[in-house]
Amino acid sequence: MVGLGTMGAGIAQVCLQAGIPTVGRDVTPELGERATARIDHYLSRGVEKGRMTADEKEGALGLFTTTTDVADFADCDLVVEAVFEDLEVKRGLFGELERVVSREALLATNTSALPVTEIAASIETPDRVVGMHFFNPAPVLPLVEVVRTNLCSEDAYETAVAFVERVGKAPIRCGDTPGFVVNRILIPLLNDCVRVLDEAGVTPEDVDRAMTHGTNWPIGPCALIDLIGVDVHVHASEALWEALREPRMAPPPRLVRMAQAGLLGRKTGRGFFSYA
Ligand SMILES: NC(=O)c1ccc[n+]([C@@H]2O[C@H](COP(=O)([O-])OP(=O)(O)OC[C@H]3O[C@@H](n4cnc5c(N)ncnc54)[C@H](O)[C@@H]3O)[C@@H](O)[C@H]2O)c1
Repeated sequence: MVGLGTMGAGIAQVCLQAGIPTVGRDVTPELGERATARIDHYLSRGVEKGRMTADEKEGALGLFTTTTDVADFADCDLVVEAVFEDLEVKRGLFGELERVVSREALLATNTSALPVTEIAASIETPDRVVGMHFFNPAPVLPLVEVVRTNLCSEDAYETAVAFVERVGKAPIRCGDTPGFVVNRILIPLLNDCVRVLDEAGVTPEDVDRAMTHGTNWPIGPCALIDLIGVDVHVHASEALWEALREPRMAPPPRLVRMAQAGLLGRKTGRGFFSYA
């Protein structure tokens, strides 16, 4: 696992719970320690809630090592990348990984909005590169979009799908199109919900009530944007707008202003709603 932030730590936890020895790399030892502590915390909660035994937790944690050195991936059969959403950073990293791992090893990116093809095409062995798009929080949400590029070998792609099944997740097969499946649907839909606030003169509470009580959504759109992070949503909207030029993809000005003001949702304590 390269990158041990929100997604990387979550994906590492998924692998450990499936009994897969995992090496995690971030840029400093402290970030590795922080990810290990987070995984420990969530596994401990699993023990408290009776989802696993204390021995199973210790067994899972015992499979995890952290490093700052890409060379420590030499024996890995699969490397999943979840570093910053920046094409040049990811391309540089895939170039480094390609030189370290065996020719048979798969390289996967967890990118949400960058073209997997552009990452694959930048290295000498693009046939082993796939998108493996987990959702946040990775240990909780079952879906993984397994993204195929035109350069990907059938064997590599099917191995990636089999891996996702092996770690207990629900894969779907899809092509390398902007937003893949979920974000292509969800982002313009959430943007529409925000535009309705002003158009119909309703409150965030009432838009959320409309969608939870009128269509049985498990969470309202404003609460969902607060959970995703207003900045993350705006960034993803901009990427889809850049790629597709459809007006519904562009972030509504209200969200851009919220991002500028630091009203990012749950993580800053205030977004559409306030959080203690
Ligand atoms: N957060 C989400 O909801 C979500 C959901 C699905 C996919 N994604 C995608 O997952 C990726 C990671 O997102 P995140 O939210 O976990 O980000 P994050 O900022 O929480 O974590 C990124 C981590 O990568 C590390 N990093 C940066 N460069 C590195 C390098 N060269 N080697 C090793 N580590 C490096 C950083 O130190 C940081 O710990 C992005 O591509 C994002 O689009 C995010």
